[in-house]
Amino acid sequence: MLQLRDVSTYYGQIRALELINLEVRSGEIVALIGANGAGKTTMLNTICGLLEPRHGEITFEDKRISGLPVEGIVRLGLCHVPERRQVFSRMSVRDNLLLGAYHRRDSGVRQDVQRMYELFPILGQRQDQTAGTLSGGEQQMLAIARGLMSRPKLLMLDEPSVGLAPLVVREILRVVADMRSRGTTVLLVEQNAKAALGVADRGYVLETGRVVLEGTAKELTEDEGVQMSYLGKGKKLQFARCHAETRYACEENRAINSCVRCPSNERNGSKPAAADD
Ligand SMILES: Nc1ncnc2c1ncn2[C@@H]1O[C@H](COP(=O)(O)OP(=O)(O)OP(=O)(O)O)[C@@H](O)[C@H]1O
Ligand SMILES: [Mg+2]
Repeated sequence: MLQLRDVSTYYGQIRALELINLEVRSGEIVALIGANGAGKTTMLNTICGLLEPRHGEITFEDKRISGLPVEGIVRLGLCHVPERRQVFSRMSVRDNLLLGAYHRRDSGVRQDVQRMYELFPILGQRQDQTAGTLSGGEQQMLAIARGLMSRPKLLMLDEPSVGLAPLVVREILRVVADMRSRGTTVLLVEQNAKAALGVADRGYVLETGRVVLEGTAKELTEDEGVQMSYLGKGKKLQFARCHAETRYACEENRAINSCVRCPSNERNGSKPAAADD
C-alpha cells in the first residue's frame, strides 16, 4: 500500500532521514519506534507531503506521491494525525468531527459522527463541549476520530500515547486494533514501544534517521537490543549501524567490537574487524 524507497529528508544541510526503506501493506498495523529526535515525525511529515524528500521515492497504492501537495495526498486516502493532539479548541467536539469530513461529498457523514461516538463513548457525552476544555486523553481521542472522519485508507498516528495515563493508552490502542478490523491500515509512531508492539503486526526501529531494525512485532519484542533500549529490560543499549552482517547494536554506541551481536566481536567468538561506520 505504502512504500518508501531510499528516502532521505533534510532540514537545510542537516540530514534527518537517511535512505529509508519502509513498507506498509494493506490491512496491517505497522509500528515505527524510536527515541526522541530519531526522525519519526520527520518520516510522517515526509510521507504526508509537509516535507519533500531530497532523494528517493514514496508510492501509495502504486502511485508516486513524493512531490505532491498535502491536499492531493489526503485525497488519495492518507490521513495524518500529528503529535500533540491538535484539535480546534474553540469548536465543539461535533464540529471538530464534521471538519474532519470537509472534503467528503457522500451522505454518510452524520452516520460516521455517530460511529465515532460509539468508538469513543466519552466523545458522545461531550459532543457539545468545546474541544479546548477536554482532557488530554479526550483530545487525543478527538484528534484520532477527526482523522477517521475522512475515511482514510491509511491512518498515520504520531505518538498518540504521549503523556496519557495507561488506561487511556489502552483505550486508544483498542480503537487502533478495532480500526484495522474495519479495514483501515495504520502506521503508528510511538516512543512507547511496549504499547506499539502490543498492537502492531510489524515494526521498524528508527535511530538517528536510519532504520536499524525491522521485523514482526513478535520478533522485535523478543529482540535483545529492543528489549534493552525500548522495553526497559536490562542495561540500556544504543543501537548503531554495524558494518558486518548484523546491522546494529553497539553498547552505548562504542566501537563495533563491543557489539552484543556482531560476529566481529571477539566475545562472540570471531576476530574483531575495523569499525568503518
Ligand atoms: N524544523 C526543523 N528544522 C531543523 N531540524 C529539525 C526540524 N524538525 C526536526 N528537526 C531535527 O530532526 C531530527 C528528527 O526530529 P523528529 O522531530 O523527526 O524526531 P522524532 O523522532 O519525532 O522525536 P520525538 O520523539 O521527540 O517527537 C532531530 O534531530 C530534530 O532536531
Ligand atoms: Mg516526533
